Amino acid sequence: MSGYRIAIVGATGLVGQTLLEVLHDQEVPISTLVALARDAGGRFIEFQGERIPVEPLDRMDWRRVDVAFFAAGNAVSDMYAPQAMRAGVTVIDKSSRFRMDAGVPLVVPEVNGSAIGDSLIIASPNCSTIQLVIALAPIHRRFGITRVVVSTYQAVSGTGRDAVSELEHQTRQYLAGAQVTPEVYPVPIAHNVLAFCDNFGEADYTGEEWKLVRESEKILGQNVKLSATAVRVPVYIGHSESVYVETGDDWSLEEMRQVLKTGPSVRLVDDPGRGVVPTPLDAAGRDEVLVGRVRRDLHEERGLHLFVVADNLRRGAATNAVDIMRSVHQRWGIGDQSR
Ligand SMILES: NC(=O)c1ccc[n+]([C@@H]2O[C@H](COP(=O)([O-])OP(=O)(O)OC[C@H]3O[C@@H](n4cnc5c(N)ncnc54)[C@H](OP(=O)(O)O)[C@@H]3O)[C@@H](O)[C@H]2O)c1
Repeated sequence: MSGYRIAIVGATGLVGQTLLEVLHDQEVPISTLVALARDAGGRFIEFQGERIPVEPLDRMDWRRVDVAFFAAGNAVSDMYAPQAMRAGVTVIDKSSRFRMDAGVPLVVPEVNGSAIGDSLIIASPNCSTIQLVIALAPIHRRFGITRVVVSTYQAVSGTGRDAVSELEHQTRQYLAGAQVTPEVYPVPIAHNVLAFCDNFGEADYTGEEWKLVRESEKILGQNVKLSATAVRVPVYIGHSESVYVETGDDWSLEEMRQVLKTGPSVRLVDDPGRGVVPTPLDAAGRDEVLVGRVRRDLHEERGLHLFVVADNLRRGAATNAVDIMRSVHQRWGIGDQSR
């Protein structure tokens, strides 16, 4: 193969742009790159010193590519992913549209890569789910997790480029003593903490919280009973999670640290004596999931507390998507239409 023939749907957005960075950083061989967005508008994206014209999605001829990353929201995936698949294209979907569909694998390659099977569409989980299951998987394999309670502190880039502009704009308004005008979020995000990430739903949990619960169950198995509180904080990049875990088996802290240290894509950042803990600023631009504050619960013998931080745009979106592409390629060969 001389290189992948790739389309990026939503190439002008935060995830699309981060996909380009990751493809570059991982030196992925590419023979065709098609950048798709809502409208072309004479726009270009930059990739490895080349200016690539942005093309309108509604006129895409899917025969030009073998793999398509969808990073433009549920409605776009709903309408165009089936078209791409009918042309034999492998779809790696960053939206939540197909994640919980029974026939669609929901994959974090380090955790459940074998779930890829022979599906032409593979869903990539929500950003908060990806970092959580990467941190939990080695613990689950070794000690059997029975219960998880997670509270997230999610960056505004998780909502997309308009939310990043909103935090910048509102911060300036605050510092200038001007009236703050919320648009993306219903209340100001600058200098604030929002105890919800999106709309409220069943049992007063938000959609983001239900995604964490259901997606983690689909990936780790139904024995892991998980509850979540998802919170938006005025951080640009990097989701943080305070995680409480109960296990079926006993462990020592030394064993637990060792298990985390050897977990794929996990980096243990835990030296409380020297004040070393994971932070979003340290996670930004990296592909590892930083795990720290490793400690036993004060009351529950098999209770563990962790603080888990990752770059939501890279590890939580683009890097996972590119890793899925590599896994599919190893299994089937991308461009091989026999499956
Ligand atoms: N941000 C994260 O951390 C994160 C993590 C995991 C998953 N995701 C998911 O990834 C997707 C993209 O998120 P994002 O943060 O990159 O959003 P974003 O920064 O708002 O970018 C949205 C992108 O989608 C394109 N788009 C929107 N409507 C379209 C349409 N009708 N036809 C074609 N293209 C269209 C936009 O193109 P134009 O420039 O033409 O408007 C833009 O390229 C969403 O499904 C999101 O849920 C995001």
